[in-house]
Amino acid sequence: MAHILVINSSISGENSVSRLLVQETVERLIEAHPGAVVTHRDVGAAPVPHLTPESVAGVRAVAASEAELSAAALSDELIDELKKADIIVIGAPMYNFSIASGLRTWFDHVLRPRVTFAYSDTGPQGLITGKRVIVVESRGGLYTEGPAVVMDFQEPYLKTLLGFIGLTDVTFVHAEKLGFGPEARELALTIARGKIAATASHTAA
Ligand SMILES: Cc1cc2nc3c(=O)[nH]c(=O)nc-3n(C[C@H](O)[C@H](O)[C@H](O)COP(=O)(O)O)c2cc1C
Repeated sequence: MAHILVINSSISGENSVSRLLVQETVERLIEAHPGAVVTHRDVGAAPVPHLTPESVAGVRAVAASEAELSAAALSDELIDELKKADIIVIGAPMYNFSIASGLRTWFDHVLRPRVTFAYSDTGPQGLITGKRVIVVESRGGLYTEGPAVVMDFQEPYLKTLLGFIGLTDVTFVHAEKLGFGPEARELALTIARGKIAATASHTAA
């Protein structure tokens, strides 16, 4: 049975484009994988806490205090959700040319030496392998072509973070020019939906 982990990070609630498209992606995936188990992690509506000295001590040393144990437990929980998943769907709005701080904080808890990555003689090695990732990127502007391509610190960053822990099979769905008026928005949704249909139907669990 396929396990799908859904991570939303938009702060825009019901008006969120990434949330809408993530939901449609999950529906498509369930059509392709009937009976799939879906786990939701919403770091936009319910952000995980920023790292603290206790988080670092808790996950990178031997957790001792209550705060350190609780930080280690949160990191374990988030990583466990990731490990269980066959397919990971991430809603990643562009905020200030990069990702939402909630999503960045999620990565802060999940990128963990000896657990999700390890250093080897040949360099860092990702330990979370054999999974498929679909990332929905919603953006007010246009970044896949034109002068703003160089301002895209969202997609290269996500590729690096995911790849660092071994998640290299990543499909990016773009919903761009959302700030260019209703027609541009409709077109963006149509293009994104086409990509979702194509990618979800051939996703093997
Ligand atoms: C705080 C904030 C910062 C934003 N920064 C950018 C940006 O740098 N570039 C851009 O193209 N759009 C930017 N936008 C527009 C969002 O990318 C756009 O509204 C998108 O729909 C957000 O995804 P969501 O609807 O899922 O929340 C920003 C929006 C917000 C709220």
